[in-house]
Amino acid sequence: MRIAIAGPGALGCLFAALLAPRMQRDGGSLRLLDHNKQRANLLSTQGILYEADNRQQHRMVAVSSEPQSIGPVDILLLTVKSHDLADCLRFCHPLISPRTLPVFMQNGIGHLDAEERFNLPATPAFAVSSEGATLLAPGHVRHVGRGATHMGFLHHPPERQQQLLSELAGILHECGLAISLSDHILNQLWAKLFVNAGINPLTALYNCTNGQLLTSCAARGRLKHIVREAEAVARAVGIGISVDPVQATLAVCKSTAKNISSMLQDRRRKRLTEIDAINGAVVREGKRMGIATPFNEEIMRQIKEMEGNYR
Ligand code: PAF
Repeated sequence: MRIAIAGPGALGCLFAALLAPRMQRDGGSLRLLDHNKQRANLLSTQGILYEADNRQQHRMVAVSSEPQSIGPVDILLLTVKSHDLADCLRFCHPLISPRTLPVFMQNGIGHLDAEERFNLPATPAFAVSSEGATLLAPGHVRHVGRGATHMGFLHHPPERQQQLLSELAGILHECGLAISLSDHILNQLWAKLFVNAGINPLTALYNCTNGQLLTSCAARGRLKHIVREAEAVARAVGIGISVDPVQATLAVCKSTAKNISSMLQDRRRKRLTEIDAINGAVVREGKRMGIATPFNEEIMRQIKEMEGNYR
């Protein structure tokens, strides 16, 4: 089995560190792809520093900035942010053949049309992960919270793709991850979207932890409106909703109370946020379905203004 992971961010490093021992033991090939040659060389030499439960371990992983020297792989995990997908797929082109299974692991729903938009030669799978990972330095990842990862297809896949996804699930399960194959991955992508739409932009705006959103009446009120709008849009689109999205989002604020959300991390590093793929997607889908989304529009405007102030 030839597996490649595109993107040495928190999730990419986490999956690389967890997969490395299993792939070495069973003779498979694992590559982490990084477009930055200098960083790729550094990570190849020093390995990934994986930190969990107050213990640190170096996990050696082959890191490459030259996909053309690798050629097509069986599975390509795409762990970059949604807005980096176009560049990433251009870079990873030599890794993808019609026999490859690309697995998209982005937040939001801005990438669901990836197969057509990027003219992929192979049917992709989509994953929703709630593993908590923080990148402390290049190649240094802290596994802050154990979560679950659901994977599935949006449309009925060819048999080979289905088989590859089952094999991947088996391998990741052996690596200690809670994995499930889902026939309703679209519903799960939206369920995660509700949480991200409510928590991420407000924590970025107020510069606070997830838990602190619960202590401010104003923030809590806005969170509820944002998530209710997203829920109304989802229902209009025909998404199956089994748990109340507002209650679920408030529960995540509580269970991840000390977390610095990924969007707040982006703000602190002055990086582009995922607002377009999260609240932006709610606004776009709302327009398509004729549903007003003023709270999502307003938070999106404020986050865009914040991004504008980086410069
Ligand atoms: O993006 C994030 O930070 C996470 O998805 C979540 C669940 C909001 C926790 O911080």
